[in-house]
Amino acid sequence: VRGMSAESRYLRFFTSRVDEADVAARLAAAEARGGVGVVAEDEHGRIVGHAHLSSLEDSPPEMAVAVADDLRGQGLGPNLLEVLGAVAEVRGAHSYRARVLMSNQAMLKALRRIGCAVMERHPGVVEVLVATRGGMPGWPSGEHDRPRVLVEGTSLFGSLEDELLRGGGYEAMFCPGAPRGSPCALVATGRCPLAAGADLIVCGFPLDATHEPILAAHRRSHPRIPVCLEVKSVATVPADLPGGVVPVPSPSRPGLFVEAVERALGRQGAEAEREHPGRGSSEGHPGIVDS
Ligand SMILES: CC(C)(COP(=O)(O)OP(=O)(O)OC[C@H]1O[C@@H](n2cnc3c(N)ncnc32)[C@H](O)[C@@H]1OP(=O)(O)O)[C@@H](O)C(=O)NCCC(=O)NCCS
Repeated sequence: VRGMSAESRYLRFFTSRVDEADVAARLAAAEARGGVGVVAEDEHGRIVGHAHLSSLEDSPPEMAVAVADDLRGQGLGPNLLEVLGAVAEVRGAHSYRARVLMSNQAMLKALRRIGCAVMERHPGVVEVLVATRGGMPGWPSGEHDRPRVLVEGTSLFGSLEDELLRGGGYEAMFCPGAPRGSPCALVATGRCPLAAGADLIVCGFPLDATHEPILAAHRRSHPRIPVCLEVKSVATVPADLPGGVVPVPSPSRPGLFVEAVERALGRQGAEAEREHPGRGSSEGHPGIVDS
């Protein structure tokens, strides 16, 4: 805590009024509640970073991490998270959550490199899920009673689809893309834990050379899971849309977007494929208007 500026303290604790003794006592007591933490020391034994998970009995536990100001930007934070993840994995935790201020560019960059999915959005704060063993996380464990929609996009910012769908009674996760520098696991291996556990997939990315293989991999690897593709207008519905892919309007028209997703989820992917083999898209593209 001593090596952190007021700004770093605010980013870590969401308040800059931090009592050192109180933090030390809370972290020391955390293990008794099932928490786990790791620290980094410099050659003089000074603690220069820590990463911590609240009780591993929480599903998922909450993570916090901090690095001394003079050592930021050298990869120590992600290293601490890798070690913390390995410890947690051995103890049976497969993912953890982190609440991050949208203004915390350093942490968001570190998370994009590690890999994460958005599970909640609050004003100014994004709550992400991270896999303890790296790569993309799966859905949080436990029972779920709401349909699960995986939304895919290109940036952690500005995507409203997942929040709109949560408001509409769905459990939604947002994938901003593979960990930076790694290929998309679905395209490379045919396996993505988020896609495999979804009842519906909404692709909010542009259908360009980077993203076309992802859409194709969804149809190949999970042919029974319906896939929606966001389009701006009828004119932009691709003529060669892969079978089983339903065009839906962009979330700039929130009501139409949620209704179209609802319709796509109502009709089972396999049934649609039987009705319109190889065609996929619904006639007239309901909900999509000319712009
Ligand atoms: C977030 C944090 C843990 C990341 O650890 P780190 O060791 O700095 O991570 P990295 O070395 O991977 O750097 C991540 C990014 O931080 C940025 N960064 C480095 N030093 C920085 C600084 N002093 N101020 C702002 N950003 C900085 C770099 O741009 C880097 O991105 P790049 O690789 O594209 O250049 C660390 O910056 C920190 O302790 N921040 C304050 C506390 C905090 O925000 N905790 C997270 C609460 S959820």
